[in-house]
Amino acid sequence: MGVRRGALIVLEGVDRAGKTTQCKRLVQALRDSGKEAEMMRFPDRTTMIGQLISSYLEKKSNLEDHTVHLLFSANRWEQVPLMKKKLEQGISLVVDRYAFSGVAFTSAKPGFSLEWCQNPDVGLPKPDLVMFLQVNPAEVAGRGGFGDERYETSVFQRAVQQKFEQLIKDPSVNWKVIDAARSIEDVHTEIKTLSENAINIAENQPIGELWK
Ligand SMILES: Nc1ncnc2c1ncn2[C@@H]1O[C@H](COP(=O)(O)OP(=O)(O)OP(=O)(O)O)[C@@H](O)[C@H]1O
Ligand SMILES: [Mg+2]
Repeated sequence: MGVRRGALIVLEGVDRAGKTTQCKRLVQALRDSGKEAEMMRFPDRTTMIGQLISSYLEKKSNLEDHTVHLLFSANRWEQVPLMKKKLEQGISLVVDRYAFSGVAFTSAKPGFSLEWCQNPDVGLPKPDLVMFLQVNPAEVAGRGGFGDERYETSVFQRAVQQKFEQLIKDPSVNWKVIDAARSIEDVHTEIKTLSENAINIAENQPIGELWK
């Protein structure tokens, strides 16, 4: 028997839903229970492509909308060899945003279809589990204001939320909608249980291809 592969676990949701908080908690909990797990985040601002994206998000540069969409996708593809290697070594990956954010954000702009936005990400490693942290804007108002980065406005975030709702209807992806308005601890407990199940199931399955 070879090594059982790790699971690809993604957390999605609008700004301030608690993705980063929950990714960190999950990795720690999985490690505490003796499983190998690592966190990843997209965009990965550390690469050359990631630096272009970071400068765009910080409004230090302007990029044409199609171009920036393709850069976000390229920023995921450039990590695929590493992701596959880790999964095959038995390491589960807990990922803070993935292709779903990429599609939801660009398709929230005028003139972009969901399908056009999905195309560049077709064939990425398919998550074994995607948890959508569901909150409504009023509920997260107390979590602090928006930052100064591009996209951090309530009007745009509402449009993004609607695009996520369309993506969640796709039965080819293993979506779980999590009520993220609860305490950090309660949300964590549910995420941990779902993730442990996904890890057990993924062990015996090949890595899938997203939207293919
Ligand atoms: N369940 C919760 N209840 C109350 N506050 C929370 C909860 N989860 C996270 N927070 C707080 O809300 C803020 C945003 O959380 P976090 O950074 O994890 O969100 P995020 O989804 O990663 O946001 P972004 O999309 O901007 O990166 C943080 O200050 C965090 O401590
Ligand atoms: Mg975050």
